[in-house]
Amino acid sequence: MKRGVIRNALATGVAGVLAMGVAAALSSSAGAAASTLGEAAAQSGRYFGAAVAANHLGESQYVTVLNREFNSVTPENEMKWDATEPSRGSFSFGNADRIVSHAQGRGMKIRGHTLVWHSQLPGWVSGLSSANDVRSAMNNHINQVMGHYRGKIHSWDVVNEAFQDGSSGARRQSVFQQRLGDGYIEEAFRTARAADSGAKLCYNDYNIDDANAAKTRAVYNMVRDFKSRGVPIDCVGLQSHFNSQSPVPSNYQQNIQQFAALGVDVQITELDIEGSGSAQADNYRRVVQACLAVSRCTGITVWGIPDHYSWRSSGTPLLFDRNYNKKPAYDAVLAALNGSTGNPPGGGDPTTPPGESCTATISAGQQWSDRFNLSVAVSGTSNWVVTVRVQSPQKVIATWNGSPTWDSSGNVMTMRPNGNGNTFGFTIQHNGNWNWPSVSCAVG
Ligand code: G3I
Repeated sequence: MKRGVIRNALATGVAGVLAMGVAAALSSSAGAAASTLGEAAAQSGRYFGAAVAANHLGESQYVTVLNREFNSVTPENEMKWDATEPSRGSFSFGNADRIVSHAQGRGMKIRGHTLVWHSQLPGWVSGLSSANDVRSAMNNHINQVMGHYRGKIHSWDVVNEAFQDGSSGARRQSVFQQRLGDGYIEEAFRTARAADSGAKLCYNDYNIDDANAAKTRAVYNMVRDFKSRGVPIDCVGLQSHFNSQSPVPSNYQQNIQQFAALGVDVQITELDIEGSGSAQADNYRRVVQACLAVSRCTGITVWGIPDHYSWRSSGTPLLFDRNYNKKPAYDAVLAALNGSTGNPPGGGDPTTPPGESCTATISAGQQWSDRFNLSVAVSGTSNWVVTVRVQSPQKVIATWNGSPTWDSSGNVMTMRPNGNGNTFGFTIQHNGNWNWPSVSCAVG
């Protein structure tokens, strides 16, 4: 089939056992559902982290939950400029070191947060008046802080919140932007790569969760420009602070996908969602499922552990209440993470009960020079299992609204419902082959 020739194809349900060697490409282990967030995320090769404050590391409940549930940490404030270089050339790493050694002792990943940011910036930096001075202060800060932690940090938020809110799409007017122009961002990333070539280098921001928002488009364009010119950037951090004024966007997954399609990882870096009960749980579930659906969404960090330590404590935005009880949001996140493993290898092959059948209809979505989207609508049952066979050298690089597993070749995707209805979609990187995959449906 050639691009544009076939608009619609039908595949009807296959009764009986589908013979498939289901080995989950997104899954490194399988079996019983994991009982903690970190373990559940690790099943699909992802991490699940929390922002941690050094001054709570002496509290036994806090540390118990941190150690049990999370396999990544982000120092909430301790690696920021005001903490690490309060006066020029004088570095203090005590509190950050405490978090790093706690994490290292338990095999947790560490996200470095953050090197260049307009906020929590000591007065001496804001007061610098010449471009040369700002340049040398910025580069020295990156070199010293990254050098101190070289080899220990999984990902660094190299530049944080550098874009204005609203419709301008402009860079924020910080001392860095005002003295050095927009090019300071690129310079910071280049300096960072040289300072620790083993760390992933992220651009991190809030209000870039909606795929179409002006601020998102501006960051997207910057990342695309960096990738096209070889400026070293490895990841985009979606902070993802949500509440009723700033809800989880309906296109959140599409947004993750569009950044991933630029060739960077996406990390959800500061997740918190104000609310309570099942409404909050539903929102958390949506965020986690969106990340799981995009293979380059590599991990999720919640911005704190119990509600009362959150920067937005009155909105109770976290997964544990003030007594460290698991909230419904916790249960939803854990279930979603466990759902990502789908069908375990060697077991659970789908069968269609006699007399029941389903239909999968495939249709075209957006297309670009290197890839195209397709969607599959299923009718006849809500308990479906759809097998999608792509043709080598094609690769499925993203999926949405379904829970995928893969055979060992990576060419056969088995899709099951993930609670988002009976239509799922995926992106094929065509590598020169524009043919559509075959699809078949069975009742699960
Ligand atoms: O440590 C001092 C303490 O000695 C003093 O008595 C007290 C009085 O106000 O302040 C304490 O410092 C506070 C610090 O948190 C530690 O608790 C600061 O005032 C307070 O401003 C600071 O807030 C942090 C905020 O960043 C600053 O912008 C929050 O904890 C932290 O969660 C928040 O995190 C940011 C991310 O870095 C970037 N994205 C947004 C996110 C939420 O605002």
